Amino acid sequence: MTSTATAPGKIILFGEHAVVYGQPALAVPLTTVEATATVRSGARGSGLIVEAIDLNARLSLTQSATEALVMTAKLVLNHLGKAEPDALITVQSTIPIASGLGSGAAVSAAVARALALHLGHPMTDGDLSALVYEVEKVHHGTPSGIDNTVVCYAKPVYFIRDKTLEPFQPARPLSLVIGDTGIASPTRVAVGAVREAWQQDPSGYETIFREIGAITNAARQAVESGDLAAVGPLMTRNQSLLERIGVSSPELERLIQAAIGAGAGGAKLSGGGLGGNMIALAPPQLVRHVSETLIRAGAKRVMQTVVT
Ligand code: PMV
Repeated sequence: MTSTATAPGKIILFGEHAVVYGQPALAVPLTTVEATATVRSGARGSGLIVEAIDLNARLSLTQSATEALVMTAKLVLNHLGKAEPDALITVQSTIPIASGLGSGAAVSAAVARALALHLGHPMTDGDLSALVYEVEKVHHGTPSGIDNTVVCYAKPVYFIRDKTLEPFQPARPLSLVIGDTGIASPTRVAVGAVREAWQQDPSGYETIFREIGAITNAARQAVESGDLAAVGPLMTRNQSLLERIGVSSPELERLIQAAIGAGAGGAKLSGGGLGGNMIALAPPQLVRHVSETLIRAGAKRVMQTVVT
């Protein structure tokens, strides 16, 4: 018997970092990349093995208790009240790692979903998201929960930590170009740096977080009413506040400037920052030109997506 499940990547449109401190954020699934997990029944007595193809790792439940994917599998068994099955889980992902696109959450979500399916108990999106959040907490410091939420529900979400989870829908499609600096940047490093800076200057940082929250709320309204002319400048304002909290980088800013110079309505880093990816809102007829300009400006990889 074979069970397969997938989970998409994600893009944060507005509100990263501030979302950790209780402000709203807008995030959307990125379906052009995904993690895929397959579970096959194994020989009697083989136990449960997780094979992460991209990492060239083969992990058993007993040997690697703290590893994210092993922890994921254990949480699924606990949640379902099941004993360890004899099975092989293989997981593979096309989502670039450590680049702000939610690869860790997607890989965990795909593994959990496939294993639950294999055991005859498909998980609801909500249960899956709660489970992946537990893994994120161990492996990513103090996550807000937005990654697991958008990756598990696979829908655009307006999210406030521990409080609000609302789907939202653009009134007009948003064409986004995503440019990768090629600089790996683990989320926990950026989140930790912001936490330290916030501890030094709580009121200064909280003022900025509130401004980001206000931009996110204005952006939601603009996106839902189809006022795309307003969305781009809000992205660029969000970016300048991300610069002020210290999570931008010269490479990100070079790509952001290049995209705007090529006609994008606005651009910003997306995710943890300090490297990873930037996003630009481009009129559909300029998507190709913005993409080519990003490559010339040094992007290591460019993707396009349309949020509907
Ligand atoms: O770098 P990513 O894709 O994992 O995004 C992290 C988003 C942050 O707001 C920086 C952290 C969080 O937990 O919300």
